[in-house]
Amino acid sequence: MPDPLRLGIAGLGTVGAGVVGIALRHAELLAARAGRPIAVTAVSARDRTRDRGLDLSAFAWEDDPVALARRPDVDVFVELMGGEGGAALAATEAALAAGKDVVTANKAMLAHHGQRLAEAAEARGAVIRFEAAVAGGIPVVKVLTEGLAGNVITRVMGVMNGTCNYILTRMEASGLPYAEVFAEADALGYLEADPNLDVGGIDAGHKLSLLAAIAFGTQVSFSEVELEGIGAVTIEDIRQAADMGFRIKLLGVAQMTGRGLEQRMSPCLVPADSPLGQLQGGTNMVVIEGDSVGQLVLRGAGAGRGPTASAVMADVIDLARGFRVSTFGRPAASLAPARPARATAPAAYYLRMALIDKPGALAKVAAVLGDAGVSIDRMRQYGHAEPTAPVLIVTHKTTRDALDHALVRLPATGVVVGSPVAIRIEVV
Ligand code: NAP
Ligand code: HSE
Repeated sequence: MPDPLRLGIAGLGTVGAGVVGIALRHAELLAARAGRPIAVTAVSARDRTRDRGLDLSAFAWEDDPVALARRPDVDVFVELMGGEGGAALAATEAALAAGKDVVTANKAMLAHHGQRLAEAAEARGAVIRFEAAVAGGIPVVKVLTEGLAGNVITRVMGVMNGTCNYILTRMEASGLPYAEVFAEADALGYLEADPNLDVGGIDAGHKLSLLAAIAFGTQVSFSEVELEGIGAVTIEDIRQAADMGFRIKLLGVAQMTGRGLEQRMSPCLVPADSPLGQLQGGTNMVVIEGDSVGQLVLRGAGAGRGPTASAVMADVIDLARGFRVSTFGRPAASLAPARPARATAPAAYYLRMALIDKPGALAKVAAVLGDAGVSIDRMRQYGHAEPTAPVLIVTHKTTRDALDHALVRLPATGVVVGSPVAIRIEVV
C-alpha cells in the first residue's frame, strides 16, 4: 500500500468538521480514488473541549495552528479557520515556508495576499489549492484552470454570495423590506460575523477577484473591484423590476478589455427568465465564456458544510494523486499586474426617481437625459405618493459616464426629490 497523504487540519467549524467527517466516513472510497490513503494526522481549533460531533481521539491536537503547519507528520496543511490575516495567514505562511502544500477555503486571505502566497509556494515547490474558496461546492476553479485551459476566457460572471441571493429572492417572494429580510437572514445564521462582508459585496468581490486572476492571467487585484452592495435595494425596486420582467441580483462581472481588466460586483437587473434570473435562495451560479467553448453555466450550493467540504476534499485528492497545478493556473511570476479599467461598455439602465407632481416635471427630466445623450426606452409613472410621483425609466444602452453626467444634473431641475436609483441591466 502506498504511503498515506497526511493532513493537518486547522479549523473544525462548519467546513473543517465537514472535511474530517468525509475523511472518516469515506476513507476507503478516497483511498481507491486517490490511489493512496488520505489520513488526518493532526487538527487544531480554538477550543479543544468543544463537542464537534466527531471522534477526534485518533488525531494529534495542536492549540497553535502554526505548530500544526510545521509538524513533520503533516504533508498538506488544510486551512479552514478563515480571516484575511491573523492565524490563517501566519499558519499558511509557515506551511509554505516548510515546503508543504496548502488547501484552503479562505477567499479573504487569498484576495488580499494571493500573489505573495503563490510566489512563496512556488519558491518552495509547493502549491496552494482553493476550490472551496469560490462558490462553495461548484468546481469552478477546476473548470477554469483545467477544463477550459485551452480557451481564451472572454468573460466570467455570476452570483457568488448565497446570503445576498437569499435576501433578494426572499424579498421578492415575501414582499418584505430589506431590513426585515436581513434580520431573518441573521436569525437563520446566514450572515458572516461581519455582515458587511456579505451585503456589502465584499465576500463576492473576493471570489470574483480570484476567478479573474485565473481567467485573465493577472495578479489578484481585489482592491480594484468596483464594489456596491445590496443595502440600497428596496422592495419597490424589486417589485418594479419584476413587473418589467427582470430580477435584481448581486452580480459579479470580470472581463478583459483593450483598456484593461474590468471587475465589478453590484446589484444588476437580469431577465427574469434567464438562468441567473431563475436562481433562487442561497444558490450560486457562475457563467464562463471562452472563445472555443462558448458559454458554460455552473450552478450549485455556494456554501454549507457538505458542499464546501466536498470542494476541499477534491483538492486534497488531486494532491494525493500527484496532480499539481500552479495556484492561479500558471506560474506566479508570469501573472501580469492587473491594469484596472472602469466598465465603459454601454448598457441599459433602470432608473427610479420621485418627481414633484406638477406639469412639465417629466419633460425636464427627459431633457436632462437627452442632453447627456441618454435615450429613453420606456418610462412610466406608477401611483402617487403625495406630493411626489414615483417614476420609472428604462434607458436604451448608454455609457455609465453619460448616465452619471445626467444624474448629477437632475437636482438642478428642481423637480427631483431625493436621490434617483440607477441599476444596470445586464443581458446574459
Ligand atoms: P467557522 O465555522 O467559524 O470555523 C472556524 C474554525 O476555525 C473553528 O473551528 C475555530 O475554532 C477555528 N479557529 C478560528 N481561529 C483560530 C485560531 N486562531 N486557532 C485555531 N483555530 C481557530 O468557519 P467556517 O464557516 O468553517 O469557515 C472556514 C473557512 O471556510 C473560512 O475561510 C470561510 O470563508 C470559508 N468558507 C466557508 C463556507 C461556509 O459555508 N461556512 C463556504 C465557503 C468558504 P473553534 O471551533 O474552537 O472556535
Ligand atoms: N457568506 C458566504 C455566502 C459564504 O453567503 O455565500 C460562502 O462563501
